[in-house]
Formats: sequence, structure tokens, C-alpha cells
Amino acid sequence: MARGKKIYEGKAKILFEGPEPGTIVQYFKDDATAFNAEKKDVIDGKGVLNNRLSEYFMTGLGQIGVPTHFMKRLNMREQLVRNCEIIPLEVIVRNFAAGSMSKRLGIEEGTQLPRPIVEYCFKDDSLGDPLVSEEHIAAFGWASQQDMDDILGLALRVNDYLSGVMYGVGIRLVDFKIEIGRVYEGDFQRLVVADEISPDSCRLWDIETGRKLDKDVFRRDLGNLTDAYAEVARRLGVMPKGTGPQKPTLVN
Ligand code: TMP
Ligand code: ASP
Repeated sequence: MARGKKIYEGKAKILFEGPEPGTIVQYFKDDATAFNAEKKDVIDGKGVLNNRLSEYFMTGLGQIGVPTHFMKRLNMREQLVRNCEIIPLEVIVRNFAAGSMSKRLGIEEGTQLPRPIVEYCFKDDSLGDPLVSEEHIAAFGWASQQDMDDILGLALRVNDYLSGVMYGVGIRLVDFKIEIGRVYEGDFQRLVVADEISPDSCRLWDIETGRKLDKDVFRRDLGNLTDAYAEVARRLGVMPKGTGPQKPTLVN
């Protein structure tokens, strides 16, 4: 499909104008960054895996009635999505302590939380995406109280869906980040899950061994990132041909 002009290039994806008004082509790059892009690398095959995995999760969410921006996958690296206005928040849901929460509160990584905890960060790379409260969000007008109620509802539904899907393939959903978009339909607007859901934006630990199957493999130099993502894709049955750890085999 012919894509239109480039609209935006982020750290892991590029957005192009889509074929119809109100659509966007979302291209998944192989670039990996961490610590606000202080650490960077190009990881062969990561974009292909994230495109497939995000398609899988967004489709599943749609099937249980959680609205998303996803329309269809176009090819190995691109998907067609609805254009939406991204609310400038990273919405994080945590089931177990890890990462910045463990550091901030001194809770050992892997400690189960008494209930899922939702946090908000203001999406601004120049500030390092600082943690903010609902007070900041309301006062600065990033989202209304009605939006916040809807965002919390969406975040918890995504958490239940993703936790269940992952548990079914022996993986613990430790935490994840989503972004929410505003879609306008005539005089109405509604909120949808946007951006991507992939091992770049989740913490996924093998339930039996504790092996990390997410971007912490890159952040913490724990091994081969695409092997980890391909393992998630393999367990979910969405392993695309020609990616992942298989080596070409010689036939005589
Ligand atoms: P954190 O513990 O570093 O705050 O991360 C919480 C979750 O959010 C974790 O699943 C990784 C994800 N995340 C992103 O998707 N993008 C980011 O820029 C950061 C810092 C975290
Ligand atoms: N996406 C973020 C970055 O590069 C950080 C992260 O995922 O750890 O900067």
C-alpha cells in the first residue's frame, strides 16, 4: 500500500499519512532505546516482532470490546491505525514492583502489589517523562475528569486482558505502559488504546524461571532481545516465519 508523507518519527516507530483521511500507517523500526535514548542500538527483527505482537494484543482487546486505534496489519513492519490525538500521558499499570517503582519506593523487584497500581507520567522527553498526579493532569488540562475515569477503566481492562493472555502462556505481566488517543466522531469524542502494546512497553517474566522476556533484556544487557521477543511470539502462536532464533538448516 502506498503510504503518504511522513508525519512523525519517534524512537521506535514512524507515522505516515494513511490512504484514507483519518488513517495513519504506523511503521515499526528496529531501533531500541533506553534511559531517554541515552542507550541506543538497532536490533535486527525487533520491529517485525513488535508489529505482530501489537496486532495480536490490539485485536484481542477489540474482540473483548476495548476500543483501540488498530485497523489492520499491512505487512511485516506496517499497520494501519486510526488517526487520533494522543493524550500526553504514559499510563502505567503495575501488578508487581519493578523498575522505577522499586527504585522510588525501595520495594524489592517482583514483590506482588496489594492491587494493580496505575501511575501517570507526562509524555515529554526533554523532561524525562516525569511522574505526575491526577491533580497535575486536571490543573494543566491534559485530560478532563471524565477522561481520567475512562482512562482508568481502559487501563484496568487492558491489565486484566493482558495478564490473562500472558498467564495462559506461562508469563507474568509485571507491568506495562499504554498511551490513550482521542478519536472524534462527529460531535462526539471517545478514547481508544493507541500507540503499541509490545514487549518494548511491558515487563514480562517467565513464571517458572523468572527469565525476562521484555525490553529489560536490552536495558540491563541480559542477552539477545529478539530471542526474548520471539519466545513471547512463539508461545502466543504469532511467530512470523523467518524471524527469531531459528538458524537456517542445511539440507543435503
Ligand atoms: P518503569 O518501571 O521504568 O517506570 O517502567 C514501567 C513500565 O513502562 C515498564 O513496563 C516499561 C514501560 N516503559 C515504557 O513503555 N516506556 C518508557 O519510556 C519507560 C520508562 C517505561
Ligand atoms: N523508551 C524510553 C527511551 O528511550 C525508555 C525505556 O523504554 O526505557 O528512551
